[in-house]
Amino acid sequence: MPATPLRERKAWQALERHHAEIAGRHLRDLFAEDPGRGERLTAEAAGIYLDYSKNRVTDETMRLLVELAAESGVPERRDAMFRGEHINVSEDRAVLHVALRMPETESLVVDGVDVVQEVHDVLRRMREFSERVRSGEFRGYTGKPVRNVINVGIGGSDLGPVMAYEALRHYCTREITFRFISNVDSTDFAEATRDLSADETLFIISSKTFGTLETLANATSARDWVVRELGSEDAVAHHFVAVSTNAERVRAFGIDTANMFGFWDWVGGRYSMDSAIGLSTMIALGAGQFGEMLAGFRAMDEHFRTAPLESNLPVLMGVLAVWYRDFFGAQTYGVMPYEQYLKRFPAYLQQLTMESNGKHVTLNGRHVDYDTGAVFWGEPGTNGQHSFYQLIHQGTTLIPIDLIGFGKSLNPIRDHHDLLSSNVFAQAAALAFGKTEEEVRAEGTPEQVVPHRVMEGNRPSSVLLAEVLTPRLLGSLVALYEHSVFTQGAIWDIDSFDQWGVELGKVLAQQIIPELKNEAEPELAHDSSTNALIRRYRSLKRK
Ligand code: F6P
Repeated sequence: MPATPLRERKAWQALERHHAEIAGRHLRDLFAEDPGRGERLTAEAAGIYLDYSKNRVTDETMRLLVELAAESGVPERRDAMFRGEHINVSEDRAVLHVALRMPETESLVVDGVDVVQEVHDVLRRMREFSERVRSGEFRGYTGKPVRNVINVGIGGSDLGPVMAYEALRHYCTREITFRFISNVDSTDFAEATRDLSADETLFIISSKTFGTLETLANATSARDWVVRELGSEDAVAHHFVAVSTNAERVRAFGIDTANMFGFWDWVGGRYSMDSAIGLSTMIALGAGQFGEMLAGFRAMDEHFRTAPLESNLPVLMGVLAVWYRDFFGAQTYGVMPYEQYLKRFPAYLQQLTMESNGKHVTLNGRHVDYDTGAVFWGEPGTNGQHSFYQLIHQGTTLIPIDLIGFGKSLNPIRDHHDLLSSNVFAQAAALAFGKTEEEVRAEGTPEQVVPHRVMEGNRPSSVLLAEVLTPRLLGSLVALYEHSVFTQGAIWDIDSFDQWGVELGKVLAQQIIPELKNEAEPELAHDSSTNALIRRYRSLKRK
């Protein structure tokens, strides 16, 4: 833990002075003065090339930001994570998603247990099970093979599996339909099951705690559906498996723990897609490709663990995020994948980034006097260009973005991929350099339209470029953002691995549920707005 509060660290204070000097500098000038920057301000690891030259930084900025990471103890906290120390202080837990991708030949003893061996025991069971499902050997209650797999989970028990399935669909079996139910809104359940036969459907109930209201409600409806459709309680054992850390609750729900795949409290929900929570991913991909994905995670872990800070991709991305959040006051950060298969990647990143770094106190409980986690959001390109990019180009708010592109399409058709990729480079250049008044005038623009067509530029972006989207690449990409989030959290001196903020809403909902359900309409004792809303709801429900 860094001894010095953030604003008192030497590098932070140097950055404040430095920011005052360079904040007004335009990327146009930085590039004109230094033609080498486009090749120098880059880094590469695990198949991902990062061009960060179109950020509002100089070599001196990067030197100071890297110094800030060092002074903030990023390497020490990283090493403590890899050793299995309890760096999640508010829950007194180790943070070991990196152990999920360690090879079997390694060992990591945490609290007296070799976690790598435990991880591989579960991976072995997952492999056996997914092969039985994929080959048709696994049979449902009526003896039919599985044609549909439905993952029931929410948050980290949904977003990782659904993102990975969509991202890697090209590599997934087309023999089985995969669906994901997360929302307690019954429409989610109804639409996911309406055209399926229960006797061909396998439910994977995914919940770290097995106590999440939405997941338990959907799991109960799934069980009712299976029993109703197949006419027997006995069908449940043939159509349900669970993924959880809580065997007791799995048993209490009625799933035999022989059909349970475990993980551990040291895997955060939003860091769990490569644990047993990835069971649907493994069934979809096959164990071999799932192993490739783990190897991709591992390659980025090793890079993060060993590369010097100044060429360490997650560190560079992490310090840039801090630079914009704290020195430029950027409230949001866009991530735009130019790859249709990554359409759920921004949604996945929202939980990863915002549940991790949306914190207002330091590790020792002091209220921060600087900004922490930005709002992350995004959409695949080029779609976003025809909706919200306008604001990024000409709005009054600074929004740094990451543009993610690939050298090859997985579905090459005519020249689509060049059309797509040209936009990655064009957007980054347009954002950085814009269009001056002189340039607009030189185009013969009528004088009164000139101000509207001027593009100020100086809008920062980073480009991430890789050859092609593979399971391995996806693993590296996710690990890159995981460790970037880690770097930001370590600099901010916050606990990136708890999520107490979501609890209060859950508790209040539990109080309100009986007030909505009970036909006797019990007296309300909330604030006047909540009372009025509940009364209005009751009358709408009665109509
Ligand atoms: O409410 C937030 C949260 O706890 C997330 O952190 C988690 O990923 C999600 O709910 C689901 O939790 P579980 O896997 O225990 O059902």
